[in-house]
Amino acid sequence: MAIRKIRTNPDPVLREKAKTINKISAPIIRLLDDMAETMYAANGVGLAAPQIGIGKRLVVIDVQNGNGLLKLINPVITQKNGAEVAIEGCLSFPGIAGEVERAEEVTVKALDPEGKELEIKATGLLARALQHEIDHLDGVLFVDRVIRFLEKEE
Ligand code: NI
Repeated sequence: MAIRKIRTNPDPVLREKAKTINKISAPIIRLLDDMAETMYAANGVGLAAPQIGIGKRLVVIDVQNGNGLLKLINPVITQKNGAEVAIEGCLSFPGIAGEVERAEEVTVKALDPEGKELEIKATGLLARALQHEIDHLDGVLFVDRVIRFLEKEE
């Protein structure tokens, strides 16, 4: 595994629509491992492939609440319920935080690294992280959705 360089705003790769994975090959599995290592090294709770400069629909998430590490291939939100405002940041926007409204509850379908279909029903921080990371795959960044920016304390 290797730690990759995290791309930060205004790197144009962050605005590109990522491509669907058609075949789960060994390089894709290694890429997911690198993404996880990069996320943990940066103390993040989620990372999408475009954030390391790769336009593929891959996401890793670990919100540190007992759900463990999720490695998701081609994740899609199939259901959303409710709304909740909370503070978000992003590894691609160091030093910036703001309040974002997200669905309170989501259902996400994805493939795992073995090609098995997953259906994840999530609330709270996991639901938020899923929405934030899946946005990255479409070039949508949290700052686009911020309703109020916050002063970040050092
Ligand atoms: Ni982000």
